[in-house]
Amino acid sequence: MSIRNTPTRWGHIAQLLHWLIVVLIVTQVILANWAEGLPISPKKVEVYAWHKSVGITILSLAILRLLWRLANPTPELPSTLKPYERALAKVTHFGLYLLLFAQPLTGWMMTSARGFPVSWFGFLQLPDFVPKNQALYNAMKDIHDSLALVLFVIVFLHVAAALKHHFVLKDDVLRRMLPFTKKS
Ligand code: HEM
Ligand code: HEM
Repeated sequence: MSIRNTPTRWGHIAQLLHWLIVVLIVTQVILANWAEGLPISPKKVEVYAWHKSVGITILSLAILRLLWRLANPTPELPSTLKPYERALAKVTHFGLYLLLFAQPLTGWMMTSARGFPVSWFGFLQLPDFVPKNQALYNAMKDIHDSLALVLFVIVFLHVAAALKHHFVLKDDVLRRMLPFTKKS
């Protein structure tokens, strides 16, 4: 298997970025729920700071991932798929990419609108995205919370589709996104 994508298989880099982002999103949800459940304390601030740093990491990896996608061939879906199934795959993938950007950006905007700086693990302080503004904070908080639910729903559909490809349609779609697998 190669570093780059081929017309039939995702390469090492695309696979690494896909699975790294999956792990970080799971981490993100765990951190957000952990922080939410804590009483107001330095620990709560600390856990939210990790959530923000991991979120900025996801944003950076999403940019890299999109650039890598543009610089590589995209594996074709199996020709046996019906046109509506192809369309559904395109719409869900587009939605996932959109959320990989919208979720961190609304988080960053929410934090800046609240008047807090965003730092990346304490190493790098990011510029304020927007000036302090309570109404904007409220709006961004609502959007950030709602987008998290939309993300759950789309990921659920996405995973169901991947499993259907593997176990029902028995094609290579899941296998070609997994490392250490060969074409069937
Ligand atoms: C892909 C990236 C991200 C995901 C999946 C994500 C997900 C979540 C989730 C699930 C919650 C809890 C929502 C609830 O109340 O039910 C949350 C809250 C929060 N997130 Fe994120 N987040 C991401 C990125 C960011 C970033 C980059 C920042 C800031 C720089 C951020 C700042 C916050 C803050 C401040 C809260 C607490 C909001 C509140 O007061 O309820 N998030 N996030
Ligand atoms: C947070 C969770 C996830 C996100 C955000 C996500 C995101 C994405 C995105 C954006 C693509 C499109 C790649 C492209 O066209 O450039 C993709 C492809 C893919 N994902 Fe996920 N994914 C997630 C979880 C999963 C899981 C858990 C599985 C497996 C059970 C999975 C299996 C696949 C497969 C097989 C493809 C390739 C589809 C194809 O070859 O056309 N994903 N994923």
